Formats: sequence, structure tokens, C-alpha cells
Amino acid sequence: MSDRTALKRKAGEWAADRFVKDGMIVGLGHGSTAAFAVKRIATRLKEGSLSSILAVPCSKEVAREAERLGIPLTSLDENPRIDLTIDGADEVDANLNLIKGGGGALLREKVVASASSREVIIVDPTKLSPALGTRFPLPIEVVLFAASVERAYLESLGARVKLRGGDRPFTTDQGNFILDASFGPIEDPDGLARLLDARPGIVGHGLFLGLATDLVVGREDGVTHFTKEDTPIGSFTG
Ligand code: A5P
Repeated sequence: MSDRTALKRKAGEWAADRFVKDGMIVGLGHGSTAAFAVKRIATRLKEGSLSSILAVPCSKEVAREAERLGIPLTSLDENPRIDLTIDGADEVDANLNLIKGGGGALLREKVVASASSREVIIVDPTKLSPALGTRFPLPIEVVLFAASVERAYLESLGARVKLRGGDRPFTTDQGNFILDASFGPIEDPDGLARLLDARPGIVGHGLFLGLATDLVVGREDGVTHFTKEDTPIGSFTG
């Protein structure tokens, strides 16, 4: 296991131990970091240190993995309120705003985050960013019919845009495409989110603003836990 993977694991397992309690409805995030939390939840259920939870997966892939591990699933139809979600991120800024969607599950992840009382983000330190967009393109989910139009719109805003998957486009769980839009450091994430939200062919984007309540960073010597009340977190900006 690489050093970075070990830090993801620390963050995921710590969050699954610390935050998941008996009887909760739990959102299961998508991605390599969230996978460690999912595995840890399954282990706790088997060991008996956790019981009677129901989980809402953020993707079809996570649903399959949770079923394989014996985690009981539910849906937003049956349980529209989620107590706690544990998920990863591609970038996190000092205000706990995020870029997500590197794994392609951004739309369901945002629906689940919005339905959650607590959204715990688990990362290794490479995800901490002085400004969203510095390290990662912004994933934008578009309906196929509008892909060219929305691509031109994103370019008009100054982004370099790539269709994820190129000649063999990646399709999301909803059957849509993803445009990865490199803006560079995004000065006004709220303003950009408003523009994207207003586009008819864009069904989702990876700016998660004001949704995270907690951040857990895996470190060599343990984890660091921040909450919304700690923001802005000074050490991110240096
Ligand atoms: C999935 O669509 C993403 O939002 C992931 O949460 C994000 O890409 C982080 O993934 P890793 O934990 O694999 O880095």
C-alpha cells in the first residue's frame, strides 16, 4: 500500500469508527478514500460494534460493493433524510468547499450530501487546496444532447474543456457525459456555481459549496478533524 493510500485508509477508518452510530441512515460515498470507510462499516457490522444501520449508496458501484460486504441498503424514497454521509473529495479549500466528481458520481453525491444532516469529507493531505480549481478540473455532468453547446459555453467562460473518456466517452450512472473543465484557481466559486446551475444542459457540477460539515485528513501520525466552525482554516492558505 502506498503512503498516500495508507493516509486515505486512516481517514476513512477513523471517520467510520467515530461518526457512525447504531440506527443511523448513512450515506456511502464513492471513490478510493470512501471505500475504506465502507469496508470499515462492514467490519463493524460483522464484529457487532455497530447494528441496525441502513445505507444509501452514492453510485451503482458502491451499491454493489456494499451488498457484497453485507451492508443493508435503503433508498432516498424510503428514507429521504440521511443522518450522516462519509465521502471523499478531489479538492478542499479552507472554507470546506469542495471539488468532487473525479470518480464520476458527482450528481448522486450532491443529492445525498444535500439530504444529509452531517457530511463528513475524508481526504489525504494532497487534496487540501489554496483555491478550488488549482489542482483539479471541475467535473460537469451534461446531457448528451447538450454536450457541444455546454462545452462551448464553458470555453466562453475561459475553461479548457475535455470530454471525459475522449473517443470512448465515460457515461455516468444517469447515462450522461462528463466535461472536465480546467478553470485554474476559481476566484468566485459561488458565482461560477450560479452560472452553471442556470444552464439547461448541465445536470450537475462538482462544486460542493456549504455542504461539508466536517473534514478528516489522514496524516502520518493520526488524523486531523476540522468542523465548519473551524473555518476558514488558516493552514490551507500558506
Ligand atoms: C467521486 O465522484 C468523487 O467525488 C470522489 O469523492 C473523489 O473523486 C475522491 O476520490 P478518491 O477518494 O478516489 O481520491
